[in-house]
Amino acid sequence: MVATKKSLKRFRWRGLMNAGEVPCVLCQRESSGEPATLEIAASLARQCRSGDCILLNGDLGAGKTAFARGFIQALNPENVEITSPTFTLVQTYPARSGDMIWHFDLYRLKNAQELVEIGLDEALQSGITLMEWPQLASEYVPAQSLVVTIIAGENPQHRQLSFSGLPSVWKDRLSKL
Ligand SMILES: Nc1ncnc2c1ncn2[C@@H]1O[C@H](COP(=O)(O)OP(=O)(O)OP(=O)(O)O)[C@@H](O)[C@H]1O
Ligand SMILES: [Mg+2]
Repeated sequence: MVATKKSLKRFRWRGLMNAGEVPCVLCQRESSGEPATLEIAASLARQCRSGDCILLNGDLGAGKTAFARGFIQALNPENVEITSPTFTLVQTYPARSGDMIWHFDLYRLKNAQELVEIGLDEALQSGITLMEWPQLASEYVPAQSLVVTIIAGENPQHRQLSFSGLPSVWKDRLSKL
């Protein structure tokens, strides 16, 4: 795909939608270990559909890829090899519903134009998007995104997960987690 300034500008517009509503923390969960994180992610996945964008925040090793693995496998157990797309920046997986899941890891993103080349626009329009290191694309992600923040806890296995987004989009769905 040819990257153009026009297509980047179009991303920016999407970020301005729903400007009247303010995102807030809607739900918090404790995870006692990786299996618990996988289960929380799976339960979120069952509430998601095409057009949803999940932003995964957290330090190196927080558990963003683990969360993505639980999410992707819940939507299709045949997706068994799920690793971070460290160098390709994106990997796609089929969901059983027919939706496509796009897993981005932007840690090595060089510039915003690369977002067009790796298919972010297509992902946001027609797929389910999971994104690690979303702060590198903050101007280009939808205002309707769900932000999942994973923070280390008291012991090496413990994590705190917080979920924030626009209440009109996420509140009901998160109540089912
Ligand atoms: N409660 C937990 N939830 C998730 N992962 C956990 C938990 N406890 C321990 N871990 C371990 O923490 C590590 C998380 O690695 P992971 O690759 O998912 O992190 P990441 O946030 O994607 O890192 P990076 O920023 O490098 O992409 C794994 O080794 C996992 O087994
Ligand atoms: Mg990762």
